[in-house]
Amino acid sequence: MEHSDTNTSASIKKHQAELKQDSWPGPKGMIPVTSGKADDANVHNRAYLDNILVEMRIIDAVKPDLTTEIFGRKYASPLTLAAVSHLNQVLADTSRQPMQEKAAAAKKLQVLNWIGMEPDDEYAEIVAAGGDTVRIIKPFADHERILAEIAFAQDRGAVAVGMDIDHVPGEDGNYDVVDGIPMGPITQADLARYAAYSKVPFVAKGVLSVRDALKAWKAGCSAIVVSHHHGRIPFGVPPLKVLPDIKQALAGSGMTIFVDGSLMSGYDAYKALALGADAVLIGRGILPELLDQGQAGVEDKIKRMNQELAQLMLYTGVKDTQDFDPKVLHFN
Ligand SMILES: Cc1cc2nc3c(=O)[nH]c(=O)nc-3n(C[C@H](O)[C@H](O)[C@H](O)COP(=O)(O)O)c2cc1C
Repeated sequence: MEHSDTNTSASIKKHQAELKQDSWPGPKGMIPVTSGKADDANVHNRAYLDNILVEMRIIDAVKPDLTTEIFGRKYASPLTLAAVSHLNQVLADTSRQPMQEKAAAAKKLQVLNWIGMEPDDEYAEIVAAGGDTVRIIKPFADHERILAEIAFAQDRGAVAVGMDIDHVPGEDGNYDVVDGIPMGPITQADLARYAAYSKVPFVAKGVLSVRDALKAWKAGCSAIVVSHHHGRIPFGVPPLKVLPDIKQALAGSGMTIFVDGSLMSGYDAYKALALGADAVLIGRGILPELLDQGQAGVEDKIKRMNQELAQLMLYTGVKDTQDFDPKVLHFN
């Protein structure tokens, strides 16, 4: 793939120019991380989402309650702010700190915030301004570094920690190297070690098969993110397509199932939740707003997405976030 978060800042700079010409597949202003070609999993995300249609169940329907419990804590909405790393380095205006602005928006909105690859000192500065945080740690070849980052996040109040296991491979078929730091393979036993070491729930981010979902569960993970990390795997299947089977395989496990991938509107989020997600991550759906308008832009975008989600819930007779029914969905 041409674009990944390993080259976030170069990618964003390059694409800021392209934005004006081509904003597909997202709304105008979205920072594309897609080539638009068939091997780009984002293409299939968009097509899959757009071909799910919704029937109406309006009789007896009431205004829905969006509050959601995640890791035993209450949030205003099942929308959470995805890990979008390195953004404090991308703006020409160096007085701006998009990572802190995003954390502050999450706190104000009373939603969960995710933080990805940041050095410990920057991570500490970001969470100092924010609310509840999940820290996602890379699959470093150096496993002691992973344990140290878990401990660092716990000490600073992370409500959960986890690993983006989909960042093991690089584009050259070798283990990836991110910011000069080598990644390594991750075994089920490794995951079990991190999960046992963590005092807070441990999340496997980047699960895209029933097989890996079951391995994560057996390893003692408390949650998974069904995701391909905006298309790291070429020809990756849309997360929403594998979600129902994963949901069924994990039934009764008590695991929390998050989903992300091209969820740009509250309508997209509705489809993920109806298919069985407990909560969703919004990454590129808030990125332009974050970079252009900061905290207020993110707040406005998530409020709008909450409205869209509530609108579809009301139209389909879903009274709260425990009440979704996949049978309202029709696949074109
Ligand atoms: C600029 C950027 C940086 C990202 N950095 C990280 C990261 O450090 N760790 C991680 O787990 N995911 C990272 N992601 C992936 C997102 O958390 C998310 O999984 C992915 O973008 C799919 O969601 P979306 O389609 O809503 O953007 C990053 C995504 C973007 C766009």
